[in-house]
Amino acid sequence: LVIIVAVLLVVVIKDNETNQLEKSFLTRCEAFEGYNCEEIWIIFKNAFVQKDPCKVPMEAYDLLFTAVPTKPSCNRMMFWTKTKDFVHDFTGKKDCFVTLENMMLGSVLDGLTWCGKENSDEIFTSGCPGWTDCENNAVRSFWNKASTEFADAACGDVSAMLNGSIATPYAPTSIFASIEVKRFTSPRVRSLTVVLVTEEKDVTNCTNASLKNLQNDLDKGIKYSCKEVAESQLQECSNNPEKPCGTCW
Ligand code: APR
Repeated sequence: LVIIVAVLLVVVIKDNETNQLEKSFLTRCEAFEGYNCEEIWIIFKNAFVQKDPCKVPMEAYDLLFTAVPTKPSCNRMMFWTKTKDFVHDFTGKKDCFVTLENMMLGSVLDGLTWCGKENSDEIFTSGCPGWTDCENNAVRSFWNKASTEFADAACGDVSAMLNGSIATPYAPTSIFASIEVKRFTSPRVRSLTVVLVTEEKDVTNCTNASLKNLQNDLDKGIKYSCKEVAESQLQECSNNPEKPCGTCW
């Protein structure tokens, strides 16, 4: 009897994990208009269920992004690296930039963890491989694909918020450097403005060596500029509804 109860308990707990992910997915998806969320959920889960969680390539999410194409908004696209909380605080208050995490799928899956298991229909939300545990893990491959689509959709004047408090704001292993920057092409993308978010005693500025690499990685027709902007100035700007976006930097 003890064994039966234990088995049932495990089944119920695992079932809850599936339900929890599905619930979060549907609730967040339904906040966006014009999507068949039930259908999108099934396409999403088919990308990784029944698979070794370390063997989910980016291409597994191709169908998902065919069903939910990334909608470009020229001149308003905001990229970022090592500034996650800061950039989303900013874009959440100022309605003039959109990040990947404001797009339907990016918003639905931001902060969530998921994976499957070979020869099983189960969905897990814990015990999944970490970001660097294996290259083709279910979560990382999703973000690589989402970033590919977001960068391919970039157009006009694009912006990127980088972290001026670290020695290498443009790290070659970041998604921004390894996927997104490489996909910006002229004349679709006209310019890239780097907003280097600085704190008072920071040593890193726009002459940073890694930013030279960024300029080298950039398609030649794209106009590059870099602005050092104090974190306090950005906060003041985002907290003040009177200030137009164009005056934040
Ligand atoms: N371990 C765990 N999570 C990681 C790791 C890691 N080693 N590396 C990246 N991540 C996840 C985290 O969720 C982190 O907040 O990716 C997020 C972004 O990582 P960063 O290194 O800060 O930035 P980057 O890799 O450049 O990705 C950000 O890609 O998401 C798109 O459009 C978005 O421009 C943005 C860029």
